[in-house]
Amino acid sequence: MIATINPRVARLSIVVFCLLGLTFGLLYAYRDSPTATRLLKTIPIINDNNSPSSNQPADDNKPPLPGSQPPKYKPPPKNPPPPITDPFPLLATTSKDVLPPPIPAYNIPHPDLHLHYGLSRPPPLFIGFTRQWPMLLQAVVSYITAGWPASGIYVVENTGVHNSNRAGLLSLQNPFFLNHTTLKRLGVNVIQTPVLLNFAQMQNFFLDVAYQEDHKYYFYSHQDVLVFSFEDGPDQERRPGDREWEVYDEEDKKATVTNPPAAGEEGYMTIYENCLREINTTVARGERWGFRWFQYDHLTLVNRAALEAVGGWDSMIPYYATDCDMNGKLAMDGWTMKHRRAGIVNDVSSVMTDLEALYRNPAVVPGFVDPNPLPPDQEESIKERGKWKVKKVSGDSNTTTMPTDPKAYFRILNQVGIDMGAYKYRDGDRQRNRWQKSQQGGLGEPYHYDPEGFARAFQLLTEAGRRIYSEKWGHQGCDIAEKTQLKLQDQWRVEGDFE
Ligand SMILES: *[C@@H]1O[C@H](CO)[C@@H](O)[C@H](O)[C@H]1NC(C)=O
Ligand SMILES: *[C@@H]1O[C@H](CO)[C@@H](O)[C@H](O)[C@H]1NC(C)=O
Ligand SMILES: *[C@@H]1O[C@H](CO)[C@@H](O)[C@H](O)[C@H]1NC(C)=O
Repeated sequence: MIATINPRVARLSIVVFCLLGLTFGLLYAYRDSPTATRLLKTIPIINDNNSPSSNQPADDNKPPLPGSQPPKYKPPPKNPPPPITDPFPLLATTSKDVLPPPIPAYNIPHPDLHLHYGLSRPPPLFIGFTRQWPMLLQAVVSYITAGWPASGIYVVENTGVHNSNRAGLLSLQNPFFLNHTTLKRLGVNVIQTPVLLNFAQMQNFFLDVAYQEDHKYYFYSHQDVLVFSFEDGPDQERRPGDREWEVYDEEDKKATVTNPPAAGEEGYMTIYENCLREINTTVARGERWGFRWFQYDHLTLVNRAALEAVGGWDSMIPYYATDCDMNGKLAMDGWTMKHRRAGIVNDVSSVMTDLEALYRNPAVVPGFVDPNPLPPDQEESIKERGKWKVKKVSGDSNTTTMPTDPKAYFRILNQVGIDMGAYKYRDGDRQRNRWQKSQQGGLGEPYHYDPEGFARAFQLLTEAGRRIYSEKWGHQGCDIAEKTQLKLQDQWRVEGDFE
């Protein structure tokens, strides 16, 4: 290639070069003036390998500056969690064209079910994901095998790792790992948030997608759930997260609480069908409604109009207490929230050893593992004071084959779900979020963030959010709508009613 230099380009280069020289010369001369400091902060320095954004490791051989202190490192974390294994070996170890196993025939959703309930399109179910792939995969698989159409499930990848999961660049031990291929094979959609959002922002993001896609109603679910349909008919078990269910009349009470028909019986409805019916019933009642909760907000039906009326979620209250803020606003503005029953929701912190159990494979004995177990002595002391008793922790029974009848299999599976829920609350609220710290790897991978640091920062933001909430409403505690006469317009305008 012959290098020719266009004289205009050459002249321009000289001018630019001189201008840059002049700028830096002046900045150097006036480097202590406030203007120069401001400018220096905003001018990008090219090829600066020492800038904090650079990927180069710091130069260890540099002599320390006089008067500087060496860092004092924290002791390594005690009882680090064991490495995790993928909970769905069948998908993790087979090629892309191997289909997932069939779900029980009675749970297969009819493609036009939504039309039957007066909906022109199926409403989306959003499941937000930030950390801990096994929990997410378990939630997704449980929805699918309980009869929720995979095409209606939208996993919202909110990891802050940009394209890294899509490109398969993270390892399984990285807390932010998520396998796009596996979710695609299951038929589930993945939406990526552009940057890491907090819980309130992610809720607003769901709302935004509902506007973009023109859905007046949508569902969202937490990722730490294991759901079932009423395959065995009435379910009288009281789970830690359950509240009193609201019913509208005798017929509704029978269908949802006291006597829902079992799989194979006339009138059997999956959790999905009950959710569609809930939209139909709710809209038909003509209420000013906001949320329908199917075990507090572990699975929630949202009315977009209600969120619009109260200004959406408060992004300044990032995590806990943001629900108190939202529920308070809805109540003050007259939008109802009700605990309704659509299926079985287990609020869990552990993962089934093999998710193929949810497909009722008789060769798989259902059991579960804690991805972040407590040291044995601590576990022992909980056993004495625990309120929720766990009957059996893992599937280490001598049974080698399980029933081939999916309904008979379901009864065993359901008990495992009950135990998983009890296990999460075996020490009250104290251990319920340990699972969030169960993956600690990924050092050196793109957008790595120290997992302990992430958990700690999350805790600090939560505390800050609680303070913001109490200043915003001049009240501490979640009961702003019940215990005060505050109105929607009173936000940030009242003095505190507390010391
Ligand atoms: C509820 O579903 C029935 C059919 O099952 C339909 O006729 C009716 O229009 C629906 N109601 C609403 C409010 O969508
Ligand atoms: C994701 O899962 C597929 C199987 O579904 C597997 O082949 C692939 O290696 C996994 N990707 C990563 C990054 O682990
Ligand atoms: C399983 O079998 C072994 C020996 O075959 C026996 O010692 C053990 O008690 C059995 N466990 C259960 C839970 O039945």
